[in-house]
Amino acid sequence: MTSRPLRFGLVGTGYWARIAHAPALASTEDIAFAAVWGRDQQAAAGLATAHHVTPYEDIAAFLAAVDGVAFAVPPDVQAPIAATAARAGKHLLLEKPVALAEAAADDLVEAVAQSQVASVVFFTLRFQAKMRAWLADVTARGGWTGGVASWFGSSLLESSPFNTPWRRDKGALWDLGPHVISLLWASLGPVTSVTADAGPGLDVSYLILHHQGGATSVVTVSQSGGEAAAGFEAYVWGGSGRSPAPAAANDPLPPLRTALAELAANARSGRTEHPCDVRFGRDVGHILAEAQRQIARRQAGDLGEPGDLG
Ligand SMILES: NC(=O)c1ccc[n+]([C@@H]2O[C@H](COP(=O)([O-])OP(=O)(O)OC[C@H]3O[C@@H](n4cnc5c(N)ncnc54)[C@H](OP(=O)(O)O)[C@@H]3O)[C@@H](O)[C@H]2O)c1
Repeated sequence: MTSRPLRFGLVGTGYWARIAHAPALASTEDIAFAAVWGRDQQAAAGLATAHHVTPYEDIAAFLAAVDGVAFAVPPDVQAPIAATAARAGKHLLLEKPVALAEAAADDLVEAVAQSQVASVVFFTLRFQAKMRAWLADVTARGGWTGGVASWFGSSLLESSPFNTPWRRDKGALWDLGPHVISLLWASLGPVTSVTADAGPGLDVSYLILHHQGGATSVVTVSQSGGEAAAGFEAYVWGGSGRSPAPAAANDPLPPLRTALAELAANARSGRTEHPCDVRFGRDVGHILAEAQRQIARRQAGDLGEPGDLG
């Protein structure tokens, strides 16, 4: 592998691409931000000019110009482009959730496996320094009975730049659920089953997770809490007490640089596995899909009404 910095291209030119991915790509050691592709040519040209990189109209030409691709597009747009990129031998910095359809996630995993490229999914909490220190401590101590985690978002407010069509459609389950599940998975062990329900009317989902090893955890995610209630909190608990997770950091750049640096290091060493690689992203997606199926069945009355004990 070359000793020059790895050339990365960015797919997407929206708010998240502008405030997170582009500046992180431009400021990560061993990565050269080289190219932008977006369906909005004007936005691609503007972002490219701001970072002195090349805008591309043609996705094949874009892929030919880079070693790796970072994605900042909706999940159902990301998955097929990422599979094409993987089949072209490009390393992948993916966003959560990796896909919306399980078949699309499976195809992406297969493309990554066939081409033996490196992949990292940006589960933000997993790349924050303080969260990693907490995870190292709770996993070293072990013996936890359970976990509790919640994230109340405000992305669906009219004023939010994150009020995007796929979030309005899929809600907090698919937007915030991946972050929370990825953290509980890392602190309590792989998730083996999910039981899900949702509040009526508002966007609020509840999950009960069973973890390999016997721990159980509960999750609440909502985009309907409003600004006053917004925020993340989590703890694990057991015989030795309760260990609260640190606050989620606001600045996406340090954790995104960490994710990119770890992806680049794996790409250089030929290592394809990472705790947050595309296979993990697919596994988190299976939990979300199963939760969504259960919520849909409950709402259709197939699993009985909540509170229906008879
Ligand atoms: N890890 C985190 O903490 C975090 C935080 C925020 C977002 N994200 C992730 O980043 C991703 C994008 O975020 P977002 O939803 O808020 O979007 P966004 O930043 O508004 O950007 C969406 C981008 O995708 C493009 N796009 C939309 N539909 C497309 C299509 N059919 N074909 C090609 N391009 C298309 C948009 O193009 P136009 O401008 O032409 O519409 C825009 O460039 C999501 O997966 C989200 O989960 C992660």
